[in-house]
Amino acid sequence: MSNLNVNYLGLNLKSPVIAGSSSHTSTAERVREAEESGAGAVVLKSLFEEQINSVVAASAQPVSYPEADDYMAYYIKSNAVESYLKLISDAKKAVGIPVIPSINCISPGSWLDFAVRIQEAGADALEVNMFFLPTDSKMTAGEAEEEYLRLVEKLKSVIKIPVALKIGFRFSNILNLLEKLHFRGVEGVVMFNRFYEPDIDIEKMTITSAGVLSTSDEKRYVLRWIAMASALGFGLDISASTGVKNGEDAVKYILAGAKTVQVCSVLYEKGLPYIKTINSQIAGWMERKGFKSIDEFAGKLNYSSIEKPSVFERTQFMRYFSSHE
Ligand SMILES: Cc1cc2nc3c(=O)[nH]c(=O)nc-3n(C[C@H](O)[C@H](O)[C@H](O)COP(=O)(O)O)c2cc1C
Repeated sequence: MSNLNVNYLGLNLKSPVIAGSSSHTSTAERVREAEESGAGAVVLKSLFEEQINSVVAASAQPVSYPEADDYMAYYIKSNAVESYLKLISDAKKAVGIPVIPSINCISPGSWLDFAVRIQEAGADALEVNMFFLPTDSKMTAGEAEEEYLRLVEKLKSVIKIPVALKIGFRFSNILNLLEKLHFRGVEGVVMFNRFYEPDIDIEKMTITSAGVLSTSDEKRYVLRWIAMASALGFGLDISASTGVKNGEDAVKYILAGAKTVQVCSVLYEKGLPYIKTINSQIAGWMERKGFKSIDEFAGKLNYSSIEKPSVFERTQFMRYFSSHE
């Protein structure tokens, strides 16, 4: 089989396919199954900032409201933080592939101390899934983005392991944000997180949840930005997330400039062993095209490598819509 080795965040991976953060990576057994299935690395199920902060708050001061007491007690009982650290060390003992824990956060908060403990537990890198939802209409886009930058600055001042920031795609100027993240020392970016989105049930007239699992079509929101971000040329490693359902999807993202691809929804549909199939589909395509390594074709169709970069630009929309009868 072709050589699928790739370097991501300074780590050597045997495959560009990463088992993304979800319940598929929530126990050491499942992490071992991911390795046996050919995953290049795993991103562990996220620990949520709210879980960490509730433990911190509860140990710092007595709680005065009964409901809050119950809430704290729940998290302390579940011992989320300690068991997460144990998951990291158990996973590290169980596998040889890189183990990347994940923190899901909304602000640069007291969980930073916990990031240090994640590093001490043996993590190979840290993925930070940050989503700051601006609900204050007076806050400008720049001020909202500042939250991401403050977080990264603080994080990079306390840990040494590589950091990848998992972001959403709704920024006014993603490329500018990526440049600022790079200047603050972030090694990688995961493009993109796929958020919980609300829907409406018109019969029951209630708010429900939009589809939990992605479709392959959703790549359309991601591909352009990976192609443009990877052309920035300052070496920020990109991991593609959203809509990877097979080897073909993976190859598309890598051609656009991603170093790795993360799979999640497809594992709910087909199970962890399906990673083997994705790997062999990538290898099969490489053999057909005569590529011996991933590096030979990574970024070959990014914004700076193609003859007509306008295909990634707005001008192309005009042509597309005016010729569509
Ligand atoms: C059931 C489920 C649980 C998830 N849990 C997490 C999580 O804990 N942390 C995280 O960063 N992303 C989480 N995600 C997002 C995925 O890691 C991934 O970014 C997203 O689903 C897009 O990839 P996909 O198209 O392969 O599903 C979850 C997704 C699903 C469907």
